[in-house]
Amino acid sequence: MKILAIETSCDETAIALLEASGGLRNPKFKIFKNLVASQIKIHRPFGGVVPNLAKREHLKNLPILFKKILNSKSYILNSIDLIAVTVGPGLEPALWTGINFAKNLKFQISNLRSKIIGVSHLEGHLYSFLLNSKSYILNSKQIFPAIALIVSGGHTILIKMDSLVKYKKIGETRDDAIGEAFDKVARLLSLPYPGGPEIEKLAKRGNPGAINFPRPMLNQKNYDFSFSGLKTAVLYCLRDNKNLKKENVAASFQQAAFDVLISKTLRAAKEFNAKSIMISGGVAVNKTLRKEFKLKIENFKLKIDFLAPPKNFCADNAAMIAVAGYINHLRKKKRRLTANGNLNI
Ligand code: KG4
Ligand code: ZN
Repeated sequence: MKILAIETSCDETAIALLEASGGLRNPKFKIFKNLVASQIKIHRPFGGVVPNLAKREHLKNLPILFKKILNSKSYILNSIDLIAVTVGPGLEPALWTGINFAKNLKFQISNLRSKIIGVSHLEGHLYSFLLNSKSYILNSKQIFPAIALIVSGGHTILIKMDSLVKYKKIGETRDDAIGEAFDKVARLLSLPYPGGPEIEKLAKRGNPGAINFPRPMLNQKNYDFSFSGLKTAVLYCLRDNKNLKKENVAASFQQAAFDVLISKTLRAAKEFNAKSIMISGGVAVNKTLRKEFKLKIENFKLKIDFLAPPKNFCADNAAMIAVAGYINHLRKKKRRLTANGNLNI
């Protein structure tokens, strides 16, 4: 089935066109187009995303991206089976632009059987591992039970997955999301928004053992996280030590944050006998995080597969929304076509 997907929950306007097949046992995706118009430059002077600016940019970018798809695949208007659109969580004015665009598009499509399906942005991240070049025959290649870690600018969530359609949140951040902590610490170090890639770059030149920052909630038996205290520890450290090397602060902060993420994820994997660990979301782009996950899994001699989508499918994109749309369509899971800023997974 041909799926056109639209993502406008935050500061990336994204449209993708995919062919999905294989059903729930062996879902496969052929990507025809995966377009993202980033608004980073527009929001950078404000140090974060400005909702009304995001809405204005989505309104401008959506028709431009769609036209690009029409230019290369002119037949698509007649052959789209499913329009998948993000309905939350995210910035509501931004979400509405995508939902309204999807509704208008439905009138233009001549395939009378075509449908619109509302998708959770978090399900998009959760299922993004399916966009890996490997295809998973889900029953024979044992990847479940799995522990999935979503790490983005808005969320830090740990999920236990028993199958593609049966999963449960087991933990989440109680305050700042991990990406938000990276962005705030970057600001303290006078680095531009978004801070994650900047901290990663700086940390490469620093010593991760230079400063012993706290590892919040590391030893608590639950699967929740907290990053706001870590950010405050960085603030006080910079205030009280004027001669610190920025690269050491970046490396030590990153190490403290990743120690907690990795340790709690591995503990969940052991407790639930997971066959795989999946990471997704913008922070999953981070090479040190990927490397350390793989290293720890090897060191502990765990028989656990580590699955992470290619980098362009970690940050916000519409291909992952198409994947979640396909799965929700197969399992007949319906969501209202209204923006829900606080939609849960
Ligand atoms: O998933 P995403 O694109 O948007 C949300 O759904 O939030 O994630 C964006 C977040 C930002 O906070 C950004 O600083 C962070 O991901 N990020 C990174 C890296 N690249 C992006 N964090 C750490 N290391 C990176 N390389
Ligand atoms: Zn996201």
